[in-house]
Amino acid sequence: MTRLSTLGILTSGGDAPGMNTCIYWLNRFAEEKGWKTLGIREGFVGLLRGDAVKLQTTETLKRARFGSTMLGSSRLQNFPSHAENLKQSLAKLNINKLATIGGNGSLTAAKLLVSDECSVVGIPGTIDNNIADCKESLGFDTAVTTGVRMVDGIRDAAEAIPHVFGLEVLGGNDGHLAHAVAEASGADVLLIPERPLSVETITEKVKQAMSKQRYAIIVTCEGYPDIDKVLEQVSANVGKTKRFGRIGHAQRGGQPSGRDRKLALEFAIKTIEALGQNQSGRVVWQSGQAVFLSYQDSLSSTKIYEEPWRIF
Ligand code: F6P
Repeated sequence: MTRLSTLGILTSGGDAPGMNTCIYWLNRFAEEKGWKTLGIREGFVGLLRGDAVKLQTTETLKRARFGSTMLGSSRLQNFPSHAENLKQSLAKLNINKLATIGGNGSLTAAKLLVSDECSVVGIPGTIDNNIADCKESLGFDTAVTTGVRMVDGIRDAAEAIPHVFGLEVLGGNDGHLAHAVAEASGADVLLIPERPLSVETITEKVKQAMSKQRYAIIVTCEGYPDIDKVLEQVSANVGKTKRFGRIGHAQRGGQPSGRDRKLALEFAIKTIEALGQNQSGRVVWQSGQAVFLSYQDSLSSTKIYEEPWRIF
């Protein structure tokens, strides 16, 4: 007797715009294949307690255009010690196909849940865009746009009353997001942990910007060390008052951009294709398309920062 296919979907780690869109498409394609879809609440923590609810496209469609994740999320500490219990939860829920949407840690962890009874596919969803082998993750484009709007706002204020402005964006210790925001908004200085600058160099760049436009805008990644002190020193060196702000979690929210919704669709198509063939691995974005990589071919690990340093 052939076993009914049940697709489990969960979101893990920091939420990212586009997760809801992806959940909808996964649900829709599963429905079209005659699979049952279960949404697991609060990521792997929810899976541990077997917390799942049946998903229907009439409902998931209503959330597809919004930020956050309709399933909730969590960060499960010490994942390997829970792997066996998580597998048992999957078996109890009759889930034989699992799609996990999340960042680096979540995708690496998901690999431990693969078994003869359950195929597992990881989908890159993080505003940090720090997933190995993956040009773009879900949520990145929206988070870049949010950052750019903040810099635009600062520039409006700066043109009226000039200062040395600093804006901290999310991204953890990875500079991909800060770099993209700084480039797209035309910031004057970019500070990221992968490429720290001396106070003298920052001062020089700020002076140059001020000589042209009377103000300077510095975009910094949240992992940059001692940012308050650095900005204090630069401000003193150039003899100009500073203003510093943090976007914080507002950058994780908001309606997903068209770009992120399209990525969500492409990732969902590839995921359903792989799970339909009982394959396990990761879906990534490479050369303008979604690509499936089996776990044999690659392990999920942090993407090396190698953006071209053309402007800063
Ligand atoms: O999900 C990634 C991220 O938003 C990082 O950019 C940020 O450093 C971190 O999560 C914040 O985590 P938390 O929501 O646990 O404070």
